[in-house]
This record gives sequence, C-alpha cells and structure tokens, in this order.
Amino acid sequence: MTVKKRILSGIQPTGRLHLGNLIGAVDNWVRLQQDNDCFFFIADWHALTTAYADTKNLHEDLKQLVIDLLAAGIDPEKAVLFKQSDVPEHAELHLLFSMITPLPWLERVPTYKSKIEEIKEKDLGTYGFLGYPVLQAADILIYKASHVPVGEDQLPHIELAREIGRRFNYLYKDIFPMPQDLLTAFPVLPGIDGRKMSKSYQNTIALADSPEIVRKKVAAMVTDPARIKRDDKGHPEVCPVHAYFKIFAREKVAVVAAGCRSAERGCVECKRELAGILVDYLAPIHQRRAQLEKEPGYLQTVLQRGAEQARQVAAKTLNEAKSAIGLA
Ligand code: TRP
Ligand code: SF4
Repeated sequence: MTVKKRILSGIQPTGRLHLGNLIGAVDNWVRLQQDNDCFFFIADWHALTTAYADTKNLHEDLKQLVIDLLAAGIDPEKAVLFKQSDVPEHAELHLLFSMITPLPWLERVPTYKSKIEEIKEKDLGTYGFLGYPVLQAADILIYKASHVPVGEDQLPHIELAREIGRRFNYLYKDIFPMPQDLLTAFPVLPGIDGRKMSKSYQNTIALADSPEIVRKKVAAMVTDPARIKRDDKGHPEVCPVHAYFKIFAREKVAVVAAGCRSAERGCVECKRELAGILVDYLAPIHQRRAQLEKEPGYLQTVLQRGAEQARQVAAKTLNEAKSAIGLA
C-alpha cells in the first residue's frame, strides 16, 4: 500500500484569481486532490500583513476567491478547503513558534527585505509582517504536511518552516515531520506585458474576465519587439503569445512558430486566435462561476465544513505541541 501524501497549500485573497495562479498553482492542486490527503486554504491573515490599513475589499475578495477555486475544480468532497482565520489553532501555534524563532532567521528571509524595498506605499515595518513566515510555518506544520506545492518564490519560507519545526523537535519533543516543497513543473506564465503574470504588475488575465476583456487584453499583449512591420520575420521563442500557445494549445505550436518565423502569420491574427482559445478555455469556468454566485449558502457551507475538518487535525497537533512544552 502506498501512503497518501499529506498536502497543504494556501493562497492569499488579494484580487481575483488569474491564469498565472491557475497554471502555476491551482491546476496542480486540482490534480493532487485526486489521490492525496489535501488541505487548501485561503490565507486571510497573511493578506492582513500587507493590507492591514485597507480592508474594505477583503470580504468580497475572499468570496470571489472561494468561487474561483471551486470553479477551477477544487472539490470540497476531495480536499479540505477552508479559511485560515476560521482555524484559530494556526494563531496559537504561531504564537508558540514565535517564542523559539530567533529574529535573525526572519530578518534574513529574502522576501522580507525585498518586499519592504519594493512596496513603498505601505509601511511594512510591522511585527506581523516580520512574522509572516512564522505564521506560514504554523500553517504547514499544524497539519504535519509532507508536501507543500508552491512557486519558487516560496522556497525560503518552506525552508524556514523546516528550521522552526526542527528547533521545536529538538527543544521539546519530536512532533513535526519535515515538510518538502513540491515545485510545479509548469513554466511561469507571462502577463500581457511579458513580465511574470502577477497582480502587483497589473498584467493579469483573471478567470472572471469576460470574453470582451480577454480579447482586449490579448490584443494589447506584447509580442516579438523585432517585428515592427507586418513582413518582418518573427522570433516566437521571445514572444509571450507563443508561450501561451505552448500552454493552452500545444497542438498549434508548430504551426504558429513556423508561420511567425516566415512572416506568413501576422501578430494581429495570431493574437485573435489565442484570444479565441482562452475564451473557450474560460467558458466552462465562467459557467460554474455564475452558478456559484447564485449560491452564497453553499459557499458558506463549504467553508464551514472545511474549517470543521481542518480544526480536528489542527487541534490535535496543537495539543501535542502544548503537552510537549508543558502547557497542557
Ligand atoms: N505565502 C504564500 C503565498 O503568498 C501563501 C501561504 C500562506 C502558504 N501560508 C501557506 C503557502 C502555507 C503554502 C503553505 O503564496
Ligand atoms: Fe508572437 Fe504570433 Fe506575432 Fe509571432 S506572430 S511574434 S508568435 S504574436
């Protein structure tokens, strides 16, 4: 008998889920839920570490994210789907971990300094933001996750979770197994400006975008900058539109690339074709979204049941941790 993997991952409710999230993370979650023991959650406390001063959209963002996740194929019958703040055990373990985490471990996390430099419009010199990875360690270790599917940018956080777990095991009792990262094999999806698709670059195509918006955004995509005139020969390997064909229409890649190189294919028609492919790809997701929008009661039930299931596991680990320390 093969032992099921215990998978855990989280996503922040900041803005709408986009194609980059889908290809880079959520599609992988959907595959993993088929034959693993999966916990997926909405990291609303983590969102507060940066968005604490402006929470007016938090509630709606959260609701839309649940809709997006369900529409993308997360199945509450197969995976436990919940909201972080519905499971206060995470916060208690975070507190206990904060007692044993040396400050320099947090100050040298690469995302810490880079985010503070990058995001000038918010004051991130807070206790909560420094402790972001400690909370993430609690998220992971409280479920004794064996595998954590994440993007490359999160690797230092998983490493820190292992270090905190190791320190706890060493100081008190061997409770926490070491979680492994599970990197997605998929390439990073470029945004419409050619940089990595990311909410902070405002270059996304959201799952909820209407066909009109998708067509507009695709029409505005950057292409091979060397193709200035229609009969300039192109270099598909540097073109984000071509990268999309590789992901969303593999069977067309060879034709697209050849037509681009010979200049038989123009960028306008190339983008028009891609837009059609994306609109078709999103159609069933939109159908499910529309259905879910009409069922707020169902969304609530999903989160409530998810939180109950999560709390059973989380409470058990928390009790073990408290006993080990001598608090129980
Ligand atoms: N930090 C993650 C991100 O921004 C979200 C997250 C929070 C997470 N807790 C987690 C991911 C635990 C994996 C495991 O993408
Ligand atoms: Fe890109 Fe297509 Fe234009 Fe080639 S023809 S540069 S692949 S958009």
